[in-house]
Amino acid sequence: MRLPQLLAARTGKNLFLPAHGRGNGLSMGIRRLLRNKPGVWDLPELPEIGSPTCSIGAVSKSQCEAAEAFGARKCWYGVNGATGLLQSAVLAIAKPQQAILMPRNVHRSIIQACILGDISPVLFDLPFLEDRGHFFPPSLAWFKKVLKKLEEEKIVIAAVVLTNPTYQGYSEEIEPLIKAIHKLGVPVLVDEAHGTYFASSLGDIDLPKSALNAGADLVVHSLHKSAPGLVQSASLWLQGDLIDQDVIDRSISLLQTTSPSALLMASCESALHDLCSTEGRRNLKNKIDNAKDISFQLRQKGLPLLENQDPLKFILHTSSVGISGIAADHWLMNRGIIAELPEPGTLTFCLGFAKHKGLVNLLKLTWDKILSSNLERNCLPPFTRPPSPLIKTLNTSLLLAFKADSEIVPLNSAFGRISSELISPYPPGIAVLLPGEKLNSDLVSWMIGQRSYWPEQIPSKIKVVL
Ligand SMILES: Cc1ncc(COP(=O)(O)O)c(C=O)c1O
Repeated sequence: MRLPQLLAARTGKNLFLPAHGRGNGLSMGIRRLLRNKPGVWDLPELPEIGSPTCSIGAVSKSQCEAAEAFGARKCWYGVNGATGLLQSAVLAIAKPQQAILMPRNVHRSIIQACILGDISPVLFDLPFLEDRGHFFPPSLAWFKKVLKKLEEEKIVIAAVVLTNPTYQGYSEEIEPLIKAIHKLGVPVLVDEAHGTYFASSLGDIDLPKSALNAGADLVVHSLHKSAPGLVQSASLWLQGDLIDQDVIDRSISLLQTTSPSALLMASCESALHDLCSTEGRRNLKNKIDNAKDISFQLRQKGLPLLENQDPLKFILHTSSVGISGIAADHWLMNRGIIAELPEPGTLTFCLGFAKHKGLVNLLKLTWDKILSSNLERNCLPPFTRPPSPLIKTLNTSLLLAFKADSEIVPLNSAFGRISSELISPYPPGIAVLLPGEKLNSDLVSWMIGQRSYWPEQIPSKIKVVL
């Protein structure tokens, strides 16, 4: 089958990203545009359109209006997802050989940017939820211990990256962390890929505070993950005076295509407009109320859903009945129910911005079938936390290790070697091993354990520096 036919023929219950749910929740402006003659919107960088880094043209004007609406100093639209804008932001906030403090669960795009820019990641450990195998964002008390350790070890950092919320929708109060970072005089970049809609002013709805409203210097949003944008649409926001706008422009130009898609830039505008217009916010409130109701009813019907802070996502705790989230995902996919994030202990579903009629009954019925199926059951929890010290610096430059002459060795005989590769199951895109990281016995044993959970994602042989 050819790709266009395949895309059109794909059916099933969509509980995955993009959050517009195969067009059902797509922003109005884009729906109208796509009803036009096919392809009319596919335009090059004409003078009246411009691009995210142009100071003239409709895109520039639209970005200024978005910045004003969301209270930021500057906004850039992105056409290569949060990935592209996170990478540009990382390249902008540190020079080669400088260090950036970041959580152990940082998305791999940030590690990749460190490779590109010869920047040293200083990884800090995080609270770990052993019953499901997830990291949780740090509280202020936790983060203060990290900063104390940094001071004791005399590690100098140029910036800090925080990830909030996580892929599974866990969020912690971020404002006190940002204040503590600013006391050090360094900027903070927040990867809010999964929390764009937290920046919408929804009054009485209880949502985590967006990093944009909490004073972060740079915030990246994935507009297809947490707003009704098309895949690859994203936004980067600048605030305060710690970072020069020109440095960001230059970093975006380094990585961005010279032909940014006009459709995607229009989608950025529409998705953000939906989050701040009166009608868009009313719709969003309804979606959130509806999502909360779905989760409430599923719990009432006995589905093991875990608490998180993002109402548009729910986490099914499959390992609580001994079933791996990955096995449950395969089983569901064969029956036309497509979730977003299969992991060893859980399966995360995204409700996004589409309507979900009849979902409660469908999932209750399906869960009962899973329970009575012959899906393999193991005694899964508790999961072991990765063997990370509170602060971890790498033994070798990330870039040098990545580029080094290397050999491939079986994982179980890699003790004492330095990794030359980035290993990160996707989704969620969190690194289990970085280039430049030393494979001590605890790390190798933990990775071997992880292989039993993610056999297709964690290789049995790895590339190590010669
Ligand atoms: C935490 C986090 N940040 C960034 C990204 C990258 O987002 P995008 O797909 O828009 O490039 C992801 C993707 O999974 C993510 O989970």
